[in-house]
Amino acid sequence: MTLAQFSIAQTSLSWSKDPQIEARVEKLLNQMTLAEKVGQMTQFSIGTPTGPGTGRSDYKEMVARGEVGSILNMTGAAQTNAMQKIAVEQTRLHIPLLFGLDIIHGYRTSFPIPLGLSASWDPELIERIARLAAQEGTRAGIRWTFSPMVDIARDARWGRIAEGAGEDPYLGSAIAAAYVRGYQGSSLSNVDSLAACAKHFTGYGAVEGGRDYNTAEIPDRLLRQVYLPPFEAAMDAGAASFMSAFEALNEVPSTENSFTLKTVLRDEWNFRGLVVSDYGAIAELIPQGVALDGAAAARKAALAGVDMDMESNLYRTELAKLVESGALPQSAIDDAVRRILRVKFALGLFDHPYTAENTDDAQPIPASSLELARTAAEQSFVLLKNATVKGSPLLPLNGGIKSVALIGPLADDGAQMVGSWGGKSTAKDVTTLRAALEARLSQHGGRLLYAKGAELTGTSESGFAEAVNAARQADVAILALGEDATWMTGEAASRAHLDLPGNQQQLLEAIVATGKPVVLLVFSGRPLVLKWAAQHVPAMMEVWFPGVQAGPAMASTLFGDVAPSGKLTTSFPRAVGQEPLYYNALNTGRPPEKIDLTRPPTNSDEKYVSRYVDEQNSPLFPFGFGLSYTTFSYSPTTLSTPTASASALNNDSGNIRVSAEVKNIGTRKADEIVQLYIRQRGTSVARPVRELKGFRRITLSPGQSQRVEFTLTGKELRFWNIDMKNLVEPAQVTIWIAPDSTSGTPAELTIR
Ligand code: NOJ
Repeated sequence: MTLAQFSIAQTSLSWSKDPQIEARVEKLLNQMTLAEKVGQMTQFSIGTPTGPGTGRSDYKEMVARGEVGSILNMTGAAQTNAMQKIAVEQTRLHIPLLFGLDIIHGYRTSFPIPLGLSASWDPELIERIARLAAQEGTRAGIRWTFSPMVDIARDARWGRIAEGAGEDPYLGSAIAAAYVRGYQGSSLSNVDSLAACAKHFTGYGAVEGGRDYNTAEIPDRLLRQVYLPPFEAAMDAGAASFMSAFEALNEVPSTENSFTLKTVLRDEWNFRGLVVSDYGAIAELIPQGVALDGAAAARKAALAGVDMDMESNLYRTELAKLVESGALPQSAIDDAVRRILRVKFALGLFDHPYTAENTDDAQPIPASSLELARTAAEQSFVLLKNATVKGSPLLPLNGGIKSVALIGPLADDGAQMVGSWGGKSTAKDVTTLRAALEARLSQHGGRLLYAKGAELTGTSESGFAEAVNAARQADVAILALGEDATWMTGEAASRAHLDLPGNQQQLLEAIVATGKPVVLLVFSGRPLVLKWAAQHVPAMMEVWFPGVQAGPAMASTLFGDVAPSGKLTTSFPRAVGQEPLYYNALNTGRPPEKIDLTRPPTNSDEKYVSRYVDEQNSPLFPFGFGLSYTTFSYSPTTLSTPTASASALNNDSGNIRVSAEVKNIGTRKADEIVQLYIRQRGTSVARPVRELKGFRRITLSPGQSQRVEFTLTGKELRFWNIDMKNLVEPAQVTIWIAPDSTSGTPAELTIR
């Protein structure tokens, strides 16, 4: 798959340039008072607040007075309809409310967390999931989701790495577009379409030290090369809205950053949708030090192009006064309201403001949704290690296994399986691994010995003995270990340590010491440091937080009904000190080639290179990595031509076809994610050691092979050069088709 294949027909943006909508917007705008305009720019949270609440209870009165344009966190058709009725019937101009919610990885049906979904490398799957989430969410009165989060994240300490698609801008762009297509459907005006919101604009994933809400320093070239592309892809796919980020980017808080919000988003990209602030972020301009009071904060945000104030209550209290005193031009208000009304008209809210009241979130999840959830979970699992035990790979577990010890705090905890932002799924919707294995083993006359062993974050070892006993009695021990999804992953969940929390490591070591074969399932919202496990545990699989079908998906994978096919979208470190860690880094002048980095340097040749004296440079598991139950071989990479012309590529008239033969040389049918990487040298600025430029998920039967072909065009070969122009330059290009970011037999292309 190349980016060209994701590029969206212009129709997906048609809502933003529809003459009929524009005429309705202008007509309405002309009738509005300043106070009514400010009302449209105001959003409040009702229901379950996701951040510090305001303690207000007079929302209905404010809505009736036309002081609120949007509400978040209110769900249920009856509730939203009742509030909508106030807006539509009691306000002078009958402008409907827009109800928003964080529908992040499913609404009623919880799917794997976004980082897990990204490991499927399957935009079509993600589009289907987003479509289902939109259908479920709109039935509950929601027409706007604060998703997708398209922040590139290179630092595993940042808890919100869980919410995105990992570290790569090419894959991130494909996935960003897929979410938008799924949420928004064939037309924004359909009653089952959700307006998407690309967030957090921008650079939020680069917060220093991985500490949430911290500052980010990103030079312009890096910003354009790495952080902006997924946002642009979301916009090109038609995203109706953007959310500005919390953090200060290059000393300028994103909420008042006119470079990102105006120069890039409006002037360069011509984005015509609405920008909402993050939760309370306009007020945060005061502690961030760029505003002395609420009036100054509101003025700065409005001038930068933040159209809607999420929860700060500052637009409502300050904007009219600012306009009346001449401190803020009326045009800033009009432009913002135009963009908000444009989205409301595009959603069809004026024509159908209410939601049919025929659903109930308490109803069981339909079988077809569960099936999609199981497929998604299966495709998200990444097999990290599968060593041979007694003559054959430990996984899949063979049918002869009669007794399984299932150990660990995540083996039977349904609430954890839905992950952070788990939507309306609750523990009762989840089939845990314990339940799934019990069902499976009892069908085959087998036995499951379950022992929790340890708490997620506790220090008590009182459960260890029971767990060790269970392992001793079983043929194999499966350990379900990892993070606490609810407070260690997602927002405000940065970690300075990336080990298994609590005393889970000690539990793991105690079970391994029994000598029984151990399968470690890692539940996490981020890469963890799994160095000990990688040395001592024969089989390891990263399962993220898999959603409502966690148990069935894991059971079917462990027993080999399906082969794992996910590949990592973030680098797994050997030590926290390697962070930020990402594959598409620049080379140094002193790369430690041909030096054994597994031991400290013993002479100056080994020392004066770019290295750690106490750890290897490489990740424990690299970007793009994931094993299968079969083996795939890759032929060397071949090119349609050894040379190409930069000017032709810049005119989009040339291309290079790149191919390799991929063969299933194992014994079972499975999916493989084939990846295309390039490296450019001799260029005006240093380029990464590798960059992803294509990928494809293929299915091969044993013995079957397929020539996988990608096309490199100007689009893939352009980069922001020394003059800050996005161009193809003459270069020597090394090109790999490979199973991950560290392998493959390359071919050479000369661009003249
Ligand atoms: C704060 C988060 O940063 C953002 O991602 C979310 O959409 C809002 N809260 C609303 O819940």
